[in-house]
Amino acid sequence: MNGAPVPRTLGIESSCDETAVAVLDGEGRVEAHVLASQIEAHAPFGGVVPELASREHLKALPLLVPAALEQARGKIGLVAVTAGPGLVGALLVGVRFAAAFAWARRLPLVAADHLQGHLVSPFLSLDGEPARPIPSKVLALVASGGHSSWYLMDATGTAERLGRTRDDAAGETFDKVAQVLGLPYPGGPVIDRLARRGDPGAVPLPRPRIKGVPFDFSFSGLKSAAIRWIRAERLEDAGAREDIPQPVYDLLASFERAVVDQLLRPLPELARLHRPEMITVSGGVAANSLLRRRLTEAGWDLGVEVVLPPPALTTDNAAMIARAGQLAFARGERQDPRRFDARPSTKWQPPGMRRKR
Ligand code: KG4
Ligand code: ZN
Repeated sequence: MNGAPVPRTLGIESSCDETAVAVLDGEGRVEAHVLASQIEAHAPFGGVVPELASREHLKALPLLVPAALEQARGKIGLVAVTAGPGLVGALLVGVRFAAAFAWARRLPLVAADHLQGHLVSPFLSLDGEPARPIPSKVLALVASGGHSSWYLMDATGTAERLGRTRDDAAGETFDKVAQVLGLPYPGGPVIDRLARRGDPGAVPLPRPRIKGVPFDFSFSGLKSAAIRWIRAERLEDAGAREDIPQPVYDLLASFERAVVDQLLRPLPELARLHRPEMITVSGGVAANSLLRRRLTEAGWDLGVEVVLPPPALTTDNAAMIARAGQLAFARGERQDPRRFDARPSTKWQPPGMRRKR
């Protein structure tokens, strides 16, 4: 699209535990961006409870949509909604709401892919600027609670996956290690803060490679090693103590560095192969300060511009969904509101509630 006019867009996101609504003008300026987090509703269960998520979305959407429309500076001309991947019940609430909204007002409706939303988030601003144009070759890392992959994206927002995690997602490993230490959910933001007080060289942790697939990575060996170390040092739940012992800070700093090493390892070779004009990172883990710093440094080394999303747009939000919807609209995609359905992927599972380890 990059420049071609699109209508002012209402975006709706309800794939997991965040209900979010946004309005973007035709140039991708964020006019409204509201969300209702369900973290407190799920916290007693240590992860996202799917049925609870659907009911919370059902309560929040009728409040958030009018609140977002109130902040919009003109009439809505397009509705975009996350169709997947995500929890089927949670997605359906947003999808049916968006379809009814579009149908009643005779507005065009587009499906947005949640990951494509994350991919376009670095191009958005929260300072009233229009969305940045996407160059023709972007090397993009998405690291969230459910996904960790490298993509090659073109100017239309279409992306091809180049490498991925073979087991856990980066955010999931942060959440799990935090849980063993008795730290609150989600673990990523807490670890980010506490790791600053530790020595990243203190605890040796493995950085396993996957044979024959140079751009895929793995986190489960690293996570298990960290948990084994915590148990051997008898530090389970030590994060909940008034005085957190120094070895906890050291473990967190070492663990954070190992996760960032794993995420960034494919970058030099991918950059050599694809010669990107830009490198981006998105998803909840893109808020991580070490990852942001290390990626920026990698960009200097490679001579490629690095673009980071505004921290408030790293976790799930609807501004990114509205933008992904605008790009889909510009590519000519449309949905029939009467036949439109959610597209949950069977592989996707809610953070904190995955298979037993
Ligand atoms: O993108 P997101 O909101 O939801 C998914 O689509 O999964 O990502 C949430 C994930 C959680 O696992 C959370 O622990 C992680 O992002 N996260 C972080 C940070 N902030 C959030 N991980 C590391 N450092 C952070 N500062
Ligand atoms: Zn997400």
